Amino acid sequence: MPDTSPRLEVRNLVRRFEGTCVVDDISLSVAPGQVTCLLGPSGCGKSTTLRIIAGVDCQDAGEVLIDGHVVAAPGHFVPPEARGIGLMFQDFALFPHMSVADNIGFGLKATGSERTARVDKLLERVNLSGFGNKAPHMLSGGEQQRVALARALAPRPRIMLMDEPFSGLDNRLRDGIRDATLELLKEEGSAVLLVTHEPDEAMRMADEIALMRKGKIVQRAAPYNIYNQPADRRAAEFFSDVNVLEGQVQAGLAHTPFGEFLVPGVGDGTNVDIVFRPQHVSLDFDRNGRGPAPTPQHGTPARGIVHRARFMGRESLVEFTVAGGAMVKATVPAVFLPKPGTALWLSIRRDRCFVFSRGQVAPQDLPERAAS
Ligand SMILES: Nc1ncnc2c1ncn2[C@@H]1O[C@H](COP(=O)(O)OP(=O)(O)O)[C@@H](O)[C@H]1O
Ligand SMILES: [Mg+2]
Repeated sequence: MPDTSPRLEVRNLVRRFEGTCVVDDISLSVAPGQVTCLLGPSGCGKSTTLRIIAGVDCQDAGEVLIDGHVVAAPGHFVPPEARGIGLMFQDFALFPHMSVADNIGFGLKATGSERTARVDKLLERVNLSGFGNKAPHMLSGGEQQRVALARALAPRPRIMLMDEPFSGLDNRLRDGIRDATLELLKEEGSAVLLVTHEPDEAMRMADEIALMRKGKIVQRAAPYNIYNQPADRRAAEFFSDVNVLEGQVQAGLAHTPFGEFLVPGVGDGTNVDIVFRPQHVSLDFDRNGRGPAPTPQHGTPARGIVHRARFMGRESLVEFTVAGGAMVKATVPAVFLPKPGTALWLSIRRDRCFVFSRGQVAPQDLPERAAS
């Protein structure tokens, strides 16, 4: 049986700066070998959370546990160097006066051949065999980043905390380095908490995403689930451009140009947003003012008039006006550039539509439910 008890556990963490709650009751856990991404916009409290776990900042309430042992709680503080945590930040600084090999070996207690073997293995794993004697300034940004990763992993930390570790890198390099980093992290088996503001990065790296907003975790789930079952409209919008149809509930139904949507348990007169992604809109030709027949999977198609169409490289983005004046965007994975004014029929897969009451916020118990 693999060990699935949490390596890192954070319970009800709170941090205030000048009366403002920057970390507002954060709870999460990370198992050995698991990568959790703390994802959210700039200023939402990600780095502060990481700093408290690392032990370089103190919380106002809540606790941090490592392998079931409390390392930070009111009146109890284990210093950073005794926590067995590896750190990697955006502005990672290598020691300029030390060789690459000495940088990697810096945190190792081992000496002699044991130390050399560990350093050599890591050099090989980050594809820098033969670079050991070089000085850091002789390396490119991507190579320095890999040395910093090897240095953080060398003492086999139980937990790796990474704060936007790829954001200083060239765009072209980033995907390759992300993949290589993930492979090495998995091999080393640390519990990883990685902070990022980029949804693509979180989707690529994470076993679990903890989506943060204004100091709170609004949703915790696997990438597939968070993308396909967002907790609220803003969670959906964080991962891609979305379409929003506004509707009002009458007798448990919201009426839209795409037919009726079931909204059980929501009172009459409640305004709802029906949210769907542009890639889930499919298109059909107009046959003398008629479109395809309704189906349970796609609901009722709506007639749309092309407003404009643009080629985006991998796909085309076509914007429509539908009955009632709503704008609907559709992406087509090809070159498809119909002229403005063209009539087409739009259908949306019903299972890709999310219905949210207007102004609805994520229920605070959601992270717990998502984790179970
Ligand atoms: N030492 C501090 N003193 C006062 N305010 C701070 C301090 N550190 C962070 N903040 C504030 O806390 C908020 C969250 O910061 P941070 O955790 O760095 O966000 P993120 O990493 O998500 O971008 C920001 O508004 C920031 O200005
Ligand atoms: Mg930050």
